[in-house]
Amino acid sequence: MVTPHQDVASGRYQQAEFAADLWQVHLDEGTDEYKNPVEFFRRTYLTESLKGMLVGAVRRLAGQGGDPVVQLQTNFGGGKTHSMLALYHLFSGTSPSELVGIDAVMREAGTTKLPTARRVVLVGNKISPGNPSTKPDGTVVRTLWGEIAWQLGAKKAFARIKADDEKATSPGDVLRELFVEYGPCLILIDEWVAYARQLHDQGDLPAGGFETQFTFAQVLTESAKLAKNCLLVISLPASDTSGSPHALADDVEVGGQRGREALDRLRNVVGRVESSWRPASAEEGFEIVRRRLFEPLSDPAQFTDRDVVARAFADFYRAQQAEFPPECRDADYEKRLKAAYPIHPEIFDRLY
Ligand SMILES: Nc1ncnc2c1ncn2[C@@H]1O[C@H](COP(=O)(O)OP(=O)(O)OP(=O)(O)O)[C@@H](O)[C@H]1O
Ligand SMILES: [Mg+2]
Repeated sequence: MVTPHQDVASGRYQQAEFAADLWQVHLDEGTDEYKNPVEFFRRTYLTESLKGMLVGAVRRLAGQGGDPVVQLQTNFGGGKTHSMLALYHLFSGTSPSELVGIDAVMREAGTTKLPTARRVVLVGNKISPGNPSTKPDGTVVRTLWGEIAWQLGAKKAFARIKADDEKATSPGDVLRELFVEYGPCLILIDEWVAYARQLHDQGDLPAGGFETQFTFAQVLTESAKLAKNCLLVISLPASDTSGSPHALADDVEVGGQRGREALDRLRNVVGRVESSWRPASAEEGFEIVRRRLFEPLSDPAQFTDRDVVARAFADFYRAQQAEFPPECRDADYEKRLKAAYPIHPEIFDRLY
């Protein structure tokens, strides 16, 4: 009735692979599905909000409006990293005509040409605040600001920020100058909370202290806003302290008390300038998960089978009204059964 995705069928599918890895792609490693822009967009479900974000990004990097700072906020597995990858590949220099679905993005952005942008990638759990990294050109980078400068313009750009990197003090206006000079630029920061929560109060790590991180966050967001064609995208795990049944699970992801403090502080800073964005509606979420696990339906007979199954469930719920919640009787519920097929929509409702 449905064919499992090749990775699933061959047993190669690993739990870890469910999460997209921006750092790996940045290093040009991993599977084509993630690393190759054409393959990536072929497998990406362009949800309305993802499309909207890409349109805004094209405008921003072309210096024609669009938000300067975007905050991606979802629960784990909600598509934050995938959305960053979409941006990364959109500005990879690949012709937009080769990227599935991007024609509509270009139309909406009112342009035919994509700006060439410098891309900076920071992945918090892949950078160690305690262990400076030595770049291929011999540059030793200690801080996130040092990393941004180096990725923008190697030794030359790094030299401008070197003193602040060595002393681990938050840079001042030089970040804005770099964004202007090296623009258009796209700056993606994934897993920042995982990084920030490791910093110490006393600032004895090469990467600087806990407080300094938020001063930097402020400078960074302000600089991105002031530079005309710089787009800053930051992912933060969605979680609320409202005592929802998911709060505990969220806490694990956020990383305990220290992680929560880092999250609150970052949200506070980013929240001043961001446009917050959630990648998918519940129905679109079905489609995203389905694409990871199953091959798309193609044969008309498969669609018929799906409709028959959905109808059988719907009939059953209507016949056994007393046993099931009232929404199961709605015509809409049959639509949801189809949308989630071959997974039952209830599974998604429980998960998200
Ligand atoms: N729009 C989409 N189209 C196709 N696949 C998607 C889409 N969004 C997310 N995915 C896939 O769903 C899975 C989870 O997404 P992703 O890793 O981006 O979530 P996340 O929010 O970054 O999660 P985490 O909080 O664990 O970092 C990945 O395999 C990703 O490739
Ligand atoms: Mg992620």
